[in-house]
Amino acid sequence: MNSLDLIATTAFGLEAVVSRELAALGYHEQQIEDGKITFKGDALAVARTNLWLRSADRVLLQIGKFVAKDFDELFDQTKELPWSEWLPEDAAFPVTGSCVRSLLHNPPAVQSLVKKAIVESRKQNSQRHWFQETGFEYPIDVSILRDVVTLTIDTSGPGLHKRGYRKQGGAAPLKETLAAALVQLSFWNRERPFLDPFCGSGTIPIEAALIAKNRAPGLDRNFQAERWERLPVENWLKAREEARDLQISKPTTYPLFASDISPQAVQLTEDHARAAGVAGMLHVTQMDVLELKDSRDYGVIVTNPPYGERLGDRESAEAIYDDMADAFAPLKTWSIYVLTADVGFERFFRRRADRRRKLYNGRIQCQYYQYIGPRPPGTVDPRPEEGLAGAPYDPYQS
Ligand SMILES: C[S@@+](CC[C@H](N)C(=O)[O-])C[C@H]1O[C@@H](n2cnc3c(N)ncnc32)[C@H](O)[C@@H]1O
Repeated sequence: MNSLDLIATTAFGLEAVVSRELAALGYHEQQIEDGKITFKGDALAVARTNLWLRSADRVLLQIGKFVAKDFDELFDQTKELPWSEWLPEDAAFPVTGSCVRSLLHNPPAVQSLVKKAIVESRKQNSQRHWFQETGFEYPIDVSILRDVVTLTIDTSGPGLHKRGYRKQGGAAPLKETLAAALVQLSFWNRERPFLDPFCGSGTIPIEAALIAKNRAPGLDRNFQAERWERLPVENWLKAREEARDLQISKPTTYPLFASDISPQAVQLTEDHARAAGVAGMLHVTQMDVLELKDSRDYGVIVTNPPYGERLGDRESAEAIYDDMADAFAPLKTWSIYVLTADVGFERFFRRRADRRRKLYNGRIQCQYYQYIGPRPPGTVDPRPEEGLAGAPYDPYQS
């Protein structure tokens, strides 16, 4: 029975990608808002979505949602929620909060009132009047948007981008969740050559390899809710076993090509690929983008070249876009996807994109420029808005 209200949070612009990932996992009952997708699920869904979601930031358990325009309404309605069902008597429960365009606009006051209301609620169901928070942590969040209060407990713990394979960052590494989204927004599938010629620490090709392998991105890490009493440990064991079974140990894929001008970046990519268990799938070389030569057809480039915040850096980044135009010109049948914050990209690359999508790399607003090449003969590309790329149940069967 899908009795739980769950929320997958995501960076702005990636809602459609996460919604598609959820649908591919079988969670179709969804409500999509900016930065979050609310969906119905059971206890197993908590484990499966934490393990499988590639582009979501975290999975939250929604305990309540209601309108509150003053502190009394907030207190009374928070107190009525079933906190004791979730929090054991020794639970530690830090409360974070945010208020946006609401009559209640002071987050510290809101947080402390919610904390008091939860204590009162638990007192009603316990012999105790005092709760020592010495046990496992249940991180609670109160978010108020236009007077609508949403109370959640975080089931993920560290953000889902923390897959566990990246020990050190490169110069400007992308979050793994964003890298996975870039791949899933492209027309790449494992029948097509893949290249990231500005691979940095390797995030994009490693996420592509994990997708090709149908490997659950969270398989090497733990999650906050794994030790919650209300969520039977069998669900986690079952979800992990299912994920291991679904992994394709030797996917029939082209090697994924990654290159970078920097020897340190090449080393980092190799180290991270090894840690992610995909070293054998990646072909990593040190190379200036200008040296690029590839005689294959219908390949896909997904990349994140440098972009400068300061003028000098921006000028050298724009010179690189000019080099990219020359380097990619012979790749007539390829599709090319470029994430950059430089608004002049198309001018220096000398081509207008077929599509653009506004995305955020952390706080930096970027555009994802998409140049869509011809479809390989005899194939049907899943349209990115509708396709299943990245879904755990063999996304590429089409
Ligand atoms: C923004 S970083 C890429 C970060 C990467 N997506 C990650 O997640 O780690 C850009 C990379 O482009 C590389 N680069 C700069 N100029 C280059 C050139 N002419 N040819 C190839 N790589 C270059 C830099 O060494 C840097 O690693």
